[in-house]
Amino acid sequence: MNVTIVGTGYVGLVTGACLAELGNNVFCLDVDQAKIKLLNAGGMPIHEPGLEEIIQRNVEDGRLIFSSDVAASVAFADLQFIAVGTPPDEDGSADLKYVLAAARAIGRHMDGFKVIVDKSTVPVGTAQKVDAAVREELARRGLNELDFAVASNPEFLKEGAAIEDFMRPDRIVLGVDGNARGERALAMLRELYRPFNRNHERTRVMDVRSAEFTKYAANAMLATRISFMNELANLADRVGADIELVRQGVGSDPRIGYSFLYAGTGYGGSCFPKDVDALCRTAHEHGLPLQVLDAVQRVNHSQKQVLLHKIWAHFGRHLAGRTFAIWGLAFKPGTDDMREAPSRAIIAALLRAGAKVRAHDPVAQEQAARALADDLADQPELLLNMSYVAKPLDAVQDADALVILTEWKNYKSPNLRALKEAMRSPLVLDGRNLYDPHAMAMAGFTYLGIGRNNLRLVPADQRVQPEIAVEQAVATDDIAKGSGAVHAASEEPMAVLTGLCTKAAEGTQKLHGEQPSA
Ligand SMILES: NC(=O)c1ccc[n+]([C@@H]2O[C@H](COP(=O)([O-])OP(=O)(O)OC[C@H]3O[C@@H](n4cnc5c(N)ncnc54)[C@H](O)[C@@H]3O)[C@@H](O)[C@H]2O)c1
Repeated sequence: MNVTIVGTGYVGLVTGACLAELGNNVFCLDVDQAKIKLLNAGGMPIHEPGLEEIIQRNVEDGRLIFSSDVAASVAFADLQFIAVGTPPDEDGSADLKYVLAAARAIGRHMDGFKVIVDKSTVPVGTAQKVDAAVREELARRGLNELDFAVASNPEFLKEGAAIEDFMRPDRIVLGVDGNARGERALAMLRELYRPFNRNHERTRVMDVRSAEFTKYAANAMLATRISFMNELANLADRVGADIELVRQGVGSDPRIGYSFLYAGTGYGGSCFPKDVDALCRTAHEHGLPLQVLDAVQRVNHSQKQVLLHKIWAHFGRHLAGRTFAIWGLAFKPGTDDMREAPSRAIIAALLRAGAKVRAHDPVAQEQAARALADDLADQPELLLNMSYVAKPLDAVQDADALVILTEWKNYKSPNLRALKEAMRSPLVLDGRNLYDPHAMAMAGFTYLGIGRNNLRLVPADQRVQPEIAVEQAVATDDIAKGSGAVHAASEEPMAVLTGLCTKAAEGTQKLHGEQPSA
């Protein structure tokens, strides 16, 4: 089939490439001419594993073209997918200006039946607005009778695993109107997606509004699981439990499952923050605030500060003369996407407090430099204290602390001896809970994960009551409670905590008969 994809971002490019890979002829349109030029020169505007090869193959085979020619893109196919961005508006609702501009462009050029498919994540009722925008353009041209359909086909791919997700989707949601136009649209979409249903039927057909809602409901559920675990992790810090063990105990219940229960530094990326926000806005507009999701957002906002509070509890608020190594900048592994990445808030705060930051990320350094330049536009001189390195170990040379923000595979089993030798002080703040706290303590590190500062690490006679210590450390903030407490209560925090951890680990080792791993 012939297909036009409007917008060649993370979703549009993957959708276009994968549909071409299945034998369709795909026209990828973007208003960003630099992006089109880059793609036509064989370059890649984003990092997505496996995508470059698919694009190259299909461009060579003549099934995939990139262009900014709107008239040609509309003429190319009866199926017009809109996959442009829907960033948050000032009030948090989804900004539909790109979607509606794309719809209008189709209305300005179409001269026969079209199925306009909203693939962008859009609030309930958007298809109706798209319909009205196209109709208005057709009326302007005196083509009121020209028929078209608007369908909803939200995308569920995950950056970093986008090809696999697109090629083997859990479900294909198709929202169509219950009329002849809707039936016609459904028939075309069913034909396009037929190859995906060979093994079993993955298509869920529903009305347009339910399809639009389904996407938000899915992201809201996932964000809720993350905030839920993050909040419990902060409590685990206080009560001396290990959230990783709790996660496994909880996840083994098939009604709950293991996915999306990892505590961390808060969710980021181009979808969860804006989609949860947009859904909350929709709810407020309808006079039915979503109390759970309002709390999910608040928790997430606070969670992005948790590592900072641990840092402040340890070093104090003024960080001049300190160097922090950062492992991981992208909001998650497998992508270079820096939208709403927790690393941005943390690095900007460190720089503003006078610290030097040396960062490593396998693919996101260029994007991170751009994002941080935006974030620190009011104090651009601070960027002189920010540097990027080619290897993870280069980042930690003489660093006062290592802060882990993205769970890239190559951070998972570092050479702990080399790491410790390279650092000025062996403090690891692990925002992704990558390591075993006991093993880290045995290797001589002060290790602070998220929700892992369990009292088992500290022998009973040396325990500091978390609540008391928190008051001493960061009395003003609810979020900082827990791990930072132990340090702040001490004159020489690092030495004391390292000692405690080491003794505790020895105790644990005896208890479990474990050998230390380094
Ligand atoms: N990124 C994801 O992981 C993901 C996953 C599922 C759904 N979504 C949703 O898909 C949509 C697109 O997200 P994205 O991350 O791919 O966005 P993106 O910002 O990476 O890409 C959007 C592209 O659309 C182009 N564009 C804007 N207006 C245009 C127009 N009128 N005509 C042609 N091109 C135009 C932009 O130049 C840009 O290249 C959003 O609604 C998003 O919420 C994203």
